[in-house]
Amino acid sequence: MKSFIKGLPKAELHIHIEGSLEPELMFELAARNNISLPFGSIEEVRKAYNFSDLQSFLNIYYAGAGVLINEQDFYDMTWAYLKKAHAQNVRHTEIFFDPQTHTNRGVPFETVIYGVHAALVDAEHELELSSKLIMCFLRHLSAAAAAETLEQALPFQDLIVAVGLDSSEIGHPPQKFTPVFDQARALGFRTVAHAGEEGPPEYIWQALDLLKVSRIDHGVRCVEDTRLVERLAAEQTPLTVCPLSNVKLRVFDSMEQHNLKELLGLGLCATVNSDDPAYFGGYMTENFLAVQQALALDRDELQRLVRNSFEAAFLDQAERQRFIQELDSYVADTSR
Ligand code: ADE
Ligand code: ZN
Repeated sequence: MKSFIKGLPKAELHIHIEGSLEPELMFELAARNNISLPFGSIEEVRKAYNFSDLQSFLNIYYAGAGVLINEQDFYDMTWAYLKKAHAQNVRHTEIFFDPQTHTNRGVPFETVIYGVHAALVDAEHELELSSKLIMCFLRHLSAAAAAETLEQALPFQDLIVAVGLDSSEIGHPPQKFTPVFDQARALGFRTVAHAGEEGPPEYIWQALDLLKVSRIDHGVRCVEDTRLVERLAAEQTPLTVCPLSNVKLRVFDSMEQHNLKELLGLGLCATVNSDDPAYFGGYMTENFLAVQQALALDRDELQRLVRNSFEAAFLDQAERQRFIQELDSYVADTSR
């Protein structure tokens, strides 16, 4: 099963690039940029990755991102993620970035996007790994700040497929961002939003009805509302589920209690993703392995999860069909 999972051609649809910054690179960049970290060693950093909820993680995650200053830093972080993804046979990835985490520290928008984008171009050529970029607004900041960020992104619109919404969920309902999402859609961006990770099903309804999202990021709390589950199933709205993240941030007490298998059983378009792999103990393969073992997923369920990701990706139909064919051939070849 382990080698089957590792070899599966995969798509990742929920990865915060700042969440891929491993402690080793964090220390290297801190030294390069003369920044002092609140940790004495790499071991100390890893020990601090003991979270009680989303906010306790975000505090450390934003502090870690403080070592990113120059275009090369963003390139190095992104390239390290892409190499790792490639080694796990991720064939397509849709990457979130949080411009406000950087522009609020005085790092120009273009430094962030040029650094990340240059690595994506190299991955396309050198690793045959395709990708898209999704720009997230930080929901604990104001709607006006999100609108300003959208404005800053306009010169780079051809590099960004969609806008999203992340950071502290509770107390920051999607509704707060209706006007800026309206504006983004009018400009031609697709939309996604984190909803139903820690927040209530009501936030998922708002993401669907007000932000008109193509996908819900996380969405695991949808099961608390039968009508919502019916809607998500009828419309096959993808949920980008992040199993290791959910256990690390105490959304579920253990992987055995995760509802991924239940979501599939309800006919929902669930997918598996890593969220912030450097902080949560694993990339795509580790996420698949952890849920497979805890929930005894069979090969059909694993194939369904991966197929859902290709169905849910912002790909054109020819690319989508090519990846799905690659997946189907892999499964057929490994069952003989
Ligand atoms: N930013 C990075 N990871 C996140 C998560 N899991 N939820 C909300 N915002 C995030
Ligand atoms: Zn996330």
